[in-house]
Formats: sequence, structure tokens, C-alpha cells
Amino acid sequence: MHRLIHGDCVEVLKTLPPSSVDLVCTDPPYDLAEEQKRFLHAEFMRVSRHGAIVFSPPENPWLPADQYGFWVKPISTKNTSKRYSRFVEMIFLYGPLKWRTGRHWSQYTNVFLDLVDGETAHPFEKPMSLIKRLLLNHSDRGDVVLDPLVGSGTTALVAKLLGRHCIGIEREIAYVDIAHSRIDAAQPKILKGGKSCIEAAGRFLAHEIPAGIVPTGWVGLTPKIRVFERRLEQRSARVCLQPAFAGL
Ligand SMILES: C[S@@+](CC[C@H](N)C(=O)[O-])C[C@H]1O[C@@H](n2cnc3c(N)ncnc32)[C@H](O)[C@@H]1O
Repeated sequence: MHRLIHGDCVEVLKTLPPSSVDLVCTDPPYDLAEEQKRFLHAEFMRVSRHGAIVFSPPENPWLPADQYGFWVKPISTKNTSKRYSRFVEMIFLYGPLKWRTGRHWSQYTNVFLDLVDGETAHPFEKPMSLIKRLLLNHSDRGDVVLDPLVGSGTTALVAKLLGRHCIGIEREIAYVDIAHSRIDAAQPKILKGGKSCIEAAGRFLAHEIPAGIVPTGWVGLTPKIRVFERRLEQRSARVCLQPAFAGL
């Protein structure tokens, strides 16, 4: 289930019942006033069962958090204003977060070096690989992830690809449309020759393949994919996902 709501999250959040989603993962505008941040934060924590992950810049930080992450983005903006460029953004993490273990230790360090690759659909688009890591560490397949400031839909797209549900809220209709088209385009494909491999670009271990990734029309191919998944579970191979997942 993926639901994109065109609207002001200040209003929409008020309509969501307490503890109605599993996780909030969001990237608010960086110029919000203290009062706006406090209101939104209280709403995030009210509607989420398992806490919130919020991107925020060091110079206008979100509320004090339980844990902090740092996203270093070496290809950030040029500096022409006699000020140091900000090459680091912060990730504020609020519990009680789910903590999924069993991934490689490097997935649990709090410095992220991910890059957005290729054309972006939003000036502040976040790297899919970074959102992927956060969702894999802090949510389970089938969970509902809420991004109340979803922009071009990166969180929703990654959630879909990871078998999570997502609710996105965005007040700019142009971004709602972009988010819809990115999410709709994220359909798996079978590689040429009908090989039992889900197509190209990002690499996923089998246990990360969303259960619903095989569209209804391809039911006949599902057993082959299952076989392939089993092989992957033995870590003898890896599977690839769709082009929209390039860079993961
Ligand atoms: C930093 S951007 C998010 C970009 C997103 N992470 C992505 O990868 O595309 C923040 C988004 O919040 C939206 N926004 C700002 N205030 C909002 C509000 N009150 N309700 C809903 N959306 C809002 C903006 O239009 C913008 O697209």
C-alpha cells in the first residue's frame, strides 16, 4: 500500500490516529522555525509506534535526539560567499526505534557517505541508498513508514522496493505527481531470456526482496524466483533490482 496525500502535513498529521504508523522517516525544509519544529516533532512521535528519523542541518537542528547520524555529501554546493560550505547534514533519531541486527557492521556506523546519482527530481532529493539503509535498520517488511514531507517520493519509493508500506504527504502538487511517477515506475522486470533474476542496477540479498515484488501477471515465474532466492539466501549469489534502484 502506497498512499500519497496532496496537502499540508500540519493539517493531515492531525487526522492520523496515535501510533498509526510504524516509523516516521522524513526530510523537512531546513528553515523551519522552532515552533514549527516542535509542533511537527510532537506529531511525528504521536503517530509513530517506533519513533522517528529526521534529517536536519547542524545550524538549525531538530529537537535533541536519542542518536545522531551524519550524512557527508562530498559533492555538495559550491562556496562563493566567504562562508564554510556545509558538507554534512545530520540525521536525528528518536526511539523507541526498531533495531534490526544481522547486517554487516558497517551498516551501523553513524556516518553515511551516500550520493545522489544521476538526474534528480527534487533539489533536495536524498540518496536512495541512504534511505534504504535507514529503513532496513529500523523497520520490517510490511511496516508502515510515514514521510510527511515526502518531496519527490524517495522514502516512498525505497519503502516500496523494500516491501514496506508508505504514506507520503506533500503540499506541492508537482512533487506529488513526480513521486507518483517514480513509485509507479518502480516495477520489477524479468531479465532478457526469462532468467529468474529480478532486474538490474541495485544489489540486494534475497532476504531483502519484498514479498510483493512479483506482479500478479508473473505468477508463473514466481517459483523460479523462489528457487533463485533460496540460492541467494545461501549467499552464493546476489539479485538485482530495477533501474530505479541504481546506486543502491
Ligand atoms: C527537503 S524536501 C524533501 C525532499 C525529499 N527527501 C526527496 O528526496 O525528494 C521537503 C519537502 O517538504 C514539502 N513541504 C514543506 N512544507 C510542507 C508542509 N507543510 N506540508 C507538506 N509538505 C511540505 C516541500 O514542498 C518539499 O518538497
